[in-house]
Amino acid sequence: MLPDGTSCVHMVFAGADIVYIGEALPPAPLQRAAQVVDGRGFLAAPGFVNTHTHAAMTLFRSYADDMLLMDWLQTKIWPAEDRLTGADVYWATLAAIGEMIKSGTTTYADMYFFMNDVAKATDESGMRGVLARGMAGVAPTAEQALLESRSLYKDWHNQAEGRITVMLGPHAPYTCPSEYLKRVVALSEELGAEIHIHLSETKGEVDDCFKLHGKSPIRHMADLGVLQRGVLAAHCVHVDEQDLALLKTHQVRVAHNPQSNLKLASGFAPVPAMLEAGIIVGLGTDGAASNNNLDLLEEVRLTAMLHKAVTGNPQVIPARRALDLATRDGAAALGLGGKVGELRVGAKADVVLYERQGLHWCPPHDPVSLLVYAAQNSDVHSVWINGRRVLDNRVLTTIDEEKVKQEVSRRGLKLVGK
Ligand code: NI
Repeated sequence: MLPDGTSCVHMVFAGADIVYIGEALPPAPLQRAAQVVDGRGFLAAPGFVNTHTHAAMTLFRSYADDMLLMDWLQTKIWPAEDRLTGADVYWATLAAIGEMIKSGTTTYADMYFFMNDVAKATDESGMRGVLARGMAGVAPTAEQALLESRSLYKDWHNQAEGRITVMLGPHAPYTCPSEYLKRVVALSEELGAEIHIHLSETKGEVDDCFKLHGKSPIRHMADLGVLQRGVLAAHCVHVDEQDLALLKTHQVRVAHNPQSNLKLASGFAPVPAMLEAGIIVGLGTDGAASNNNLDLLEEVRLTAMLHKAVTGNPQVIPARRALDLATRDGAAALGLGGKVGELRVGAKADVVLYERQGLHWCPPHDPVSLLVYAAQNSDVHSVWINGRRVLDNRVLTTIDEEKVKQEVSRRGLKLVGK
């Protein structure tokens, strides 16, 4: 079944591409030349696009919960991150990728460090990734981060059969002084690379920016030339009408991370106003330390429900629209629009089959409603990325799940001194 209600489906993938979708068996020449998928009995959907993660933060899942963002970063996360090694990041990223694939995500946008190890994990696992070396201008690693961003771009942009693309990742206005951000803009111009940044996540961040610069973080970024470079902005929780107008003018794409924002008591982004203004919004989980899971289905469900509750309008972000944000619009947010996030002939074969055997799938009035409001990540049966089957009957084909669990548990405990 397809989300449009088409009741049985065969798909054919040739290399990385979808070349046939239909109820009937594909024509014989197609069957011989390519991979034929019998999706009958399943719901076939485009893979989710997770537009904002710090994948290796799986190491800190459940380490420090129920804190405010700045306290959590300064007293818990940053000290532990100082002890990270490339091998820690490699294994923790593989764990995150495995978790994402098993919950129906086929593309992720990551901002972290030891990004060569993140790229290796992405390449080996078959995942699609948009990678950025997180850069903090106030950190001792500020210079090194610029150099590493340049090499990440040169080494990995459009590599791994085209599955990996690279952006620049200045962490946030509050960790990157103006002079540093100007250098990031210059590097972006030199390489032709876009920018992934955290913006206006908390009220405190916005208040501090007004004190320091006399303007909002979004206005500050526009004045420094950052927004003009093609920007994926995570959060945008505390934005006013002028901020929204700037986001629209500069075609900034927003990564909405409702679970992370709620759990860190930051608030939530005015997504209906963003959509009304024509701003592209994708969904993200943020890292597994602030959110504790990388299941994009939960973000879809929350996005569909939260704004109904706060506006009192049940028509706001209907199920179909929430699903679009997690797929087609998320792909557009990452610069992959028209290529992934859609289940159609000509798109990349990033496809999920959901099993529909559970009690929660009946009766079958509306497949989109069932997927958004009722499905569980354990319904994810098989996943293809770029035409390669990376999950087969719930078993990861490219990742040794037991080995990854051992490594991440051992390394995560060691990093916090246990
Ligand atoms: Ni983040």
